[in-house]
Amino acid sequence: MSRLMINGNGPLSGEIGISGAKNAALPILSAGILTPEVLELDNLPPVRDIETMCRLLSELGLEVMKKGEAATIDGSGPISGIAPLDLVKNMRASILVLGPLLARLGFARVSLPGGCAIGSRPVDLHLKALTRMGAEIVLNEGYIEARAGRLRGAEIFFDKVTVTGTENIMMAATLAVGTTILHNAAREPEVLDLAQLLTAMGARIRGQGTGTIVIEGVPRLHGARHHIIPDRIETGTYVCAAAITGGHVTLTHTRPDLLDSFLDFMSRAGLPFKTYQDAIELFPHRGLTATHATTAPYPDFPTDMQAQFMAVMTRARGTSLITENIFENRFMHVTELKRMGARIQVDGRQAAVTGSAPLSGVPVTASDLRASASLVLAALAASGTTTVHGIEHLDRGYVNLEGKLGALGAHIWRLGRGPGVPNTGEAQKHIA
Ligand code: UD1
Repeated sequence: MSRLMINGNGPLSGEIGISGAKNAALPILSAGILTPEVLELDNLPPVRDIETMCRLLSELGLEVMKKGEAATIDGSGPISGIAPLDLVKNMRASILVLGPLLARLGFARVSLPGGCAIGSRPVDLHLKALTRMGAEIVLNEGYIEARAGRLRGAEIFFDKVTVTGTENIMMAATLAVGTTILHNAAREPEVLDLAQLLTAMGARIRGQGTGTIVIEGVPRLHGARHHIIPDRIETGTYVCAAAITGGHVTLTHTRPDLLDSFLDFMSRAGLPFKTYQDAIELFPHRGLTATHATTAPYPDFPTDMQAQFMAVMTRARGTSLITENIFENRFMHVTELKRMGARIQVDGRQAAVTGSAPLSGVPVTASDLRASASLVLAALAASGTTTVHGIEHLDRGYVNLEGKLGALGAHIWRLGRGPGVPNTGEAQKHIA
C-alpha cells in the first residue's frame, strides 16, 4: 500500500494551478446518459473517482474517450440500465446514474451505494423524489430497481438539502413530461455547473443557485460542450496549506467567488490574502486566531473543508469550536490529529480545538478523503517526519497532491509505488 512521508519544513511558497472540480465533473459525466449525442468536456480532474465514473459509464454502454483532462461521452449506442455492485460500491456518487438512466430508458437497476466512513449516507430522498415523479421502486438483493414509463413532472420538497439528490432529480426531470419544482434544493456551485451543461444540452431549467429549481421537461436533449468549474475544495485545501505553514502562495486557475464564505472565516482567523478573478494570493501571517465554524449547506461553511480547517486551528491562538452539522461521523481525523499532539475534545457534533500545542510527526492513518487532507496539512506544520497511511482516499479526490505541495517546497514523498523520491516533476504541469 502506498503512503506519504512528510517532513514539516516551514513556509510554503510559489504558485500552483487548481484542477477541475471532482464534484461537478461526476454529475456532468453521468448527464451523458441523457442524450444519444456527444458531450465534449474539459477540465476533468484526473482522480480516481472520475476514473470510476468513466468505467461505470462504459459498463453501461456509453463510449468514453479520455485524453488528459478532456473527454467525450457518446451515448448513441445501446445503453444498459444495470449499474453493478463492483463499480458502485467504491463510490457513493455512482447513485448519480439512477436519475438519468430512468429518464432515458424507463428502467434502472443500480446497486445501493452502502454506507461509508463519514456516516450512514442514505439515498432515501433520491428515491422518494423519483417515486413522486411516477417511478415504481423496489429494493431487491442490494439493488435499487426502478421503473417508469416516462417520468412525470412533480412538486418535490426535499426534507434535507441534498447535493447529489438535487442533481439526480434535476437530471431526471429534464426528460420528464411536464414541470418539476424542487423545493429546498441544494445551491452548491456544482449544481449550477450541472444546470449550465444541461441547459446547453437543450434542457429548460430556472432557479438554479436558489432553493427552488424549476425544470420543464423536453422530449430530447442534444450534445454539448462544457468546461468544468475549478475545484473549490482543492482550492480551500491549499489555502489551508499556506495558512498552516505561514507561506506566500498563489493559487491560479480557480474562482475565489466559489469559496467566499470559507475565505471569510480564514480572514477572521487572521490570514491575509488578495483575490483576483481567477486566482488567490495568500500572504504570510503574524499568527492565527481561534475561529468558530459550523458546517451547513452552501453558501455557508462547507463540510468538505471542516477537517482541513480543524488542522489549521490546531496552530491558532485560543480555542475554536467546530461543529459538524451535515454528517454524523465526520470527526475521524481527530484521533489521528491528537496522536500528533493536537489538543481536541469532541462532544457529540462539536469539537473544541485548543491551538498552539506543538505537533510532531508520527505514523497516522487516513479514514476518508478530506480527513486525509487534514493529516497532510498537520504534517506540514509538525516537527519530524509524519507517515500518512490510507492515502487511497486522497487519490479519489486530489490531483497529484504531493506533486503540487512539492512544487511549493514541501518535503513530501510517496512510498510504496517505487523508491521514495520527492515528487515534484509531475507538479510542473500544474504550475501556471
Ligand atoms: C455531496 C458531495 C460531498 C459533500 C456533501 C455535502 C458529491 C459527489 N459529494 O455528497 O463531497 O460532503 O455533498 O456537501 O457532490 N441525506 C439523506 N438522504 C438522502 C440524501 C442525503 O438523509 O437521500 C443526508 C446525508 O446523510 C447528509 C445530508 O443529507 O447528512 C447531506 O448529504 P448530501 O448533500 O446528499 O451529500 P452527497 O450529495 O452525498
